[in-house]
Amino acid sequence: MSELRFADVSIRYGSGRNALTAVRGADLVIPSGSVVGLVGESGSGKSTLARAAIGLSPLTEGTITLGGEDVRGFRRGRRPIQMVFQDPYSSLDPRMTIGESISEAFPRGMSGVQRRAEVRRLLELVNLDPERADDLPSAMSGGQRQRIALARALGARPDAIIADEITSALDVSVQGSVLNLVRDLQTRLSLTMLFISHNLSVVRYVSDFVAVMYMGRIVEVGEVDQVLSDPQHPYTQELLASAPTRHGDLLAIDDGAAIDTEPADPHDPPSGCRFHPRCPIGPLMFPDHTVCTTEEPVLPAAGHAAACHFAASAS
Ligand SMILES: Nc1ncnc2c1ncn2[C@@H]1O[C@H](COP(=O)(O)OP(=O)(O)O)[C@@H](O)[C@H]1O
Ligand SMILES: [Mg+2]
Repeated sequence: MSELRFADVSIRYGSGRNALTAVRGADLVIPSGSVVGLVGESGSGKSTLARAAIGLSPLTEGTITLGGEDVRGFRRGRRPIQMVFQDPYSSLDPRMTIGESISEAFPRGMSGVQRRAEVRRLLELVNLDPERADDLPSAMSGGQRQRIALARALGARPDAIIADEITSALDVSVQGSVLNLVRDLQTRLSLTMLFISHNLSVVRYVSDFVAVMYMGRIVEVGEVDQVLSDPQHPYTQELLASAPTRHGDLLAIDDGAAIDTEPADPHDPPSGCRFHPRCPIGPLMFPDHTVCTTEEPVLPAAGHAAACHFAASAS
């Protein structure tokens, strides 16, 4: 697998008064063989950022590279970044058998015997009965379908995988087993994976590193244990406070990541730090913190870091 790198990525939808900058100046590295969890409330730009890596959202500025190669340069037909989506019911063609869906993404040049053997291997890898290769997806549950979607992604022999809210549509009782599968695959295959969820409890269970996104900006990054034990950005602290689940306590996963305050209008983001209107250490609480309304804080480049003028006083 290869390093996936987003450098100064901005993504704008529409133009004129309807223009919306969904991602702004995002820097994010997914080191080869590690899982980076991308977390943030709904609408923060997580999917937009991820989809740009496979050309599904418009890269307005910046570059995205895989193993040092610009993703826009990949020749047609080569799909080294595979994406697994949220909805397990729309991601598989209902007329194709599971084996056909999985083998569709295989590299060319494999014989029929090799393809069937590879389908069996992949089904076993995701803990499904290989005898089910000839079943249609309608016979499968949501959790089983996400396993198939993962098998299909792996079948393409990708250099990196993006998983976008892959457990969000599943029953809580099934989420844990899919997350366990992701962890298990990571251990066995050293996946390079960008794992997206609005739920910090989900992200922290599978990730080596965490990136926190707020209104199109990455506001904190770091190793998962550092970010969880010593969150620097006040938004990360709020996310943590509203996600009381203990590390590894899968049965307790809930959707507690949402914060009560109304998010700002993304068409007209707040000046300076976009989080300032709802920040507990911003100008609302500390009138002398005027810099928050005038200067957009930058994310320091190295290590565990937060884009906040007063991050040090946040902890
Ligand atoms: N195709 C699109 N056209 C216009 N705006 C979009 C489009 N997709 C997403 N957006 C907007 O971009 C912002 C980020 O959305 P999204 O990337 O889906 O966030 P997330 O995945 O974090 O929930 C939201 O304000 C959303 O309404
Ligand atoms: Mg999304």
